[in-house]
Amino acid sequence: MKTAIYPGSFNPWHEGHTDVVSKAIKVFDKVIIAVGVNPDKKKSTETLHLIKRIGWILVMLPESPRIEVVQFNGLLKDFIKEGDYSAVIKGLRNAPDFEYEKIQQYWNEDLGIRIPTFYVISDRKFVHISSSAIKAIKSFEKK
Ligand code: PNS
Repeated sequence: MKTAIYPGSFNPWHEGHTDVVSKAIKVFDKVIIAVGVNPDKKKSTETLHLIKRIGWILVMLPESPRIEVVQFNGLLKDFIKEGDYSAVIKGLRNAPDFEYEKIQQYWNEDLGIRIPTFYVISDRKFVHISSSAIKAIKSFEKK
């Protein structure tokens, strides 16, 4: 059985992420969405937020025994070591995403991740959607 891990901060989860999972699940038997803490975005990714984010993902995603949502803390390589994963999945919208994810992949390889990273280009209708844009809009709505 081929299981892929789809790590991210998903703060919040949006349709672009769902699109990535819906494509990945066509290739892998199982997709594990691993909600983690990005040290660069730490302030907004604390534990309580993490639990809320997982709840929101479960609301947004169609229920499937082949898709799981878990949380992880610390380094991705340590989390991956504990499971039987065939690949890391990352979503890409544009060239800046590619440049960012490429460096993440190189770091992960240097840290000891030996499984390949597969990139899924998200559908063109989601190219402008990002967690940061959603957060920015929500912050104005609160005022
Ligand atoms: O969606 P994001 O913010 O790009 O998610 C990034 C995440 C949480 C997957 C990434 O920050 C991560 O893997 N964090 C754990 C720390 C780690 O393993 N870093 C190694 C690469 S520098």
